Amino acid sequence: MDKKRKMMKIFCLLLAAFSSPVFAGEWKAKIAKELNALVTSCVVVPCSFTHPHGNLPTSRLRGTWHLSKNSTERIYDEDNSNVMDSYKERTQLLGLLGQNNCTLEIVDVKDYDNGPFCFQIEIVQTQTDTSSEKHSFDNNCVRLKMLPDPPKPTMTSQKVAIQDHPYTVTCSVTHTCPSHRPKLTWSRGTANEVTHMFRELQFGYWEELSILTFIPKEDDDHSELTCTAKFHGERVSSTTRTVFIKRAENYKYVIVPTMVGIVTAVIFGALCSFVIKKYKTSTVNSKCGTSNKFSKARFPSPKRYDLDDGDDYINTADLNIYGNL
Ligand SMILES: *[C@@H]1O[C@H](CO)[C@@H](O)[C@H](O)[C@H]1NC(C)=O
Ligand SMILES: *[C@@H]1O[C@H](CO)[C@@H](O)[C@H](O)[C@H]1NC(C)=O
Repeated sequence: MDKKRKMMKIFCLLLAAFSSPVFAGEWKAKIAKELNALVTSCVVVPCSFTHPHGNLPTSRLRGTWHLSKNSTERIYDEDNSNVMDSYKERTQLLGLLGQNNCTLEIVDVKDYDNGPFCFQIEIVQTQTDTSSEKHSFDNNCVRLKMLPDPPKPTMTSQKVAIQDHPYTVTCSVTHTCPSHRPKLTWSRGTANEVTHMFRELQFGYWEELSILTFIPKEDDDHSELTCTAKFHGERVSSTTRTVFIKRAENYKYVIVPTMVGIVTAVIFGALCSFVIKKYKTSTVNSKCGTSNKFSKARFPSPKRYDLDDGDDYINTADLNIYGNL
């Protein structure tokens, strides 16, 4: 009982340590270390922090971003006159400081915006509370890796498109500007054939996805399909792929015999094991002996089936691809 209580105590302490915001009460910041940034476009630097003054409203907090070499070289300050000319009107805090969020957005990215940029928080004093303090998180600065050209979107799909059967192609592109996501468009397809999605891949990196599903016709064979990504700031990149259409007749020609083959094999196998079981449970020894011989001679093992019917095996693999439709 005593041991149990001790364990409970340890468990509760551990729980408390992990459930409270990890660094509550300390000057700590969680900021992306390095991010790609597309020149002329925008970038969002995820940032959160904690301070030892408990919960304070946004009005009691003043957050600034500066170049790492000199904390007076501000790239963001709510007082615009403190911001270096080359960064004026290009930076803003997306996060609310009262929610410990110091997320920074830079738009119209220039090729000299590589940083490193560091965050500084100031506790502003009031008439009733004169405590004031400043802290620069100079060990957690962000470096930007400038991309002169946008990344090309990636297109993925099933290998074979089958005439008159729905065909799905996915286009995706990664970026670092969730506040102005890139737009993906297709060279064909109506709005209800296209689905858009996005997700965070890792801290600061996002993926924009577009899924096109259409029913290819005969004259779509060898046609080109293009996916275009348009980034904030008008930069554009695209990827093109040729679509090859397999005729529906071929598809049936392959699939029907394969299905018949599989179904036959399954029924045959089930019957076989049923017969063996029946003979095995029988108490007559001599009968058991014949049953073993019987099963070996008349019912080939699945391995042998594969070897004998190599073609069918390949068709089964094909079937898997079509099965994903
Ligand atoms: C920091 O930058 C300011 C403004 O550009 C400048 O006046 C000051 O001399 C710099 N300080 C250092 C230590 O370089
Ligand atoms: C910080 O603010 C940004 C912009 O509003 C938001 O997207 C992000 O989810 C916030 N981060 C956290 C940790 O709440």
